Amino acid sequence: MKIWSNRFKDKMSVELEKYTSSIKFDNFLLKYDIKCSICHVLNLKTINIINKREFVILKNYIFLLKKYKFIFKSSYEDIHLNFENELINLNYIGNKIRSARSRNDLVSTDLKLWFLQKFRKIYYLMIYFLSNLLKVSEKKSLIFTGFTHFQIAQPINYSHYLLCYFEMFLRDVNKLLVLIKNNNFSPLGACALFGTNFFLNNFKTGKILGFDSSFNNSIDAVSDRDYVNDSMYFMSSTMIHFSRFSEDIVNYSNNCINILELSDSICTGSSIMPQKKNPDILEVVRSKCCVVIGNFFSILSIFTSQTLSYNKDIQEDKKILKNCYKIFKNTILVFNKIINNLHIKSDRCEKLLEENFSTATDMAEYLTKKGVPYKISHSIISLIVRNFIKKKRKLNSFKFKDLKEIDLNLYNYLYKKKISLKYISVKNSLKMKYLGYYYGTMNKEIFKNKKKLLGLFNI
Ligand code: ARG
Repeated sequence: MKIWSNRFKDKMSVELEKYTSSIKFDNFLLKYDIKCSICHVLNLKTINIINKREFVILKNYIFLLKKYKFIFKSSYEDIHLNFENELINLNYIGNKIRSARSRNDLVSTDLKLWFLQKFRKIYYLMIYFLSNLLKVSEKKSLIFTGFTHFQIAQPINYSHYLLCYFEMFLRDVNKLLVLIKNNNFSPLGACALFGTNFFLNNFKTGKILGFDSSFNNSIDAVSDRDYVNDSMYFMSSTMIHFSRFSEDIVNYSNNCINILELSDSICTGSSIMPQKKNPDILEVVRSKCCVVIGNFFSILSIFTSQTLSYNKDIQEDKKILKNCYKIFKNTILVFNKIINNLHIKSDRCEKLLEENFSTATDMAEYLTKKGVPYKISHSIISLIVRNFIKKKRKLNSFKFKDLKEIDLNLYNYLYKKKISLKYISVKNSLKMKYLGYYYGTMNKEIFKNKKKLLGLFNI
């Protein structure tokens, strides 16, 4: 019999029951429902709805249900009513547990407990990933190819490239920290939307459940799922970072570019082309990123048109959040493996950089240091580049007298200023960079980041 059956003349069909039921996807909340229920019976004893004996009976049966093999029924809609029903089946006093609480504040509390537990785990997994990224970056002050617009741009340092991802993921971790801290309050006690006529110490309840505090506004407590939206945003933006990293590795390990290589254990082959080594895992990361973003939009859409306070639309949130959490957690684990199996081909980087005029900017900057306005420096070097491309020459064969042939006026302009132009090699380009640390060691940047990481422990 349905809990509200006396109100209705007609019965709901099984199809409709199944359609609205969430038990298939909210039964993972059982553990939290039990936690809240134990806390709630304690409250019921305090406000004299149950006596000491009833409290002991209820508490024992709730503990018993912890190990119970539930047969979930969609006729009981969700985990909360399935649980309550089993408790009543075990003992008539179970009928009292519904006093002074509603499924609205219960589901809100269950999901928030789940969220805080799982996303704290994510927080530490991310810190582990960041420390692994730092480890991989250490002793990797090697020449790497820097791109803009996916065209070879300038020589860069491999550690510095990797540490760019450190910055991105560090921002994500900080985002998550704020999210966890801002949502550490309990909705239990808000009941349907405006509390109850029984006196409950919600703050104490919140503390017992492990929250920092309790809700300020009961309507907000039952209708708020901002932490779901925000965690979906957090996962989406972090997945975008994983996706960009994947895209880099896919491109850089491509046969034509060939500046990075993944260990065989990270790649897959082809069922028909024997020579193939494919970066499937990274491709999957990219597509999983799209799945998470798509789900983020679903969550946002669910909340756009909701009037206050609780509406059943909200029910779908946990399905989406949980699925994405799983994808997300696995992606962090997978990416740890990926970065541990990434090998740089520094010689190839240097060759590509040398062949593709990557130090042209250094040469222009050299002229500017000698007093030539940058616009003119830029046009002198671009003229040399154009000429060399036409003649199929590499920039490292450049001699100052070449400029005479290319543009006599420009040659004379520099000559009069007593400026002689020389080729700047890829290695020298890296040495010349002023970034506050010497490219050869990168120790400063790594040391700074290690300190930042240490500050993230203990939330
Ligand atoms: N299954 C519901 C959910 O997950 C629980 C709350 C239902 N409340 C209600 N008044 N129908 O959101």
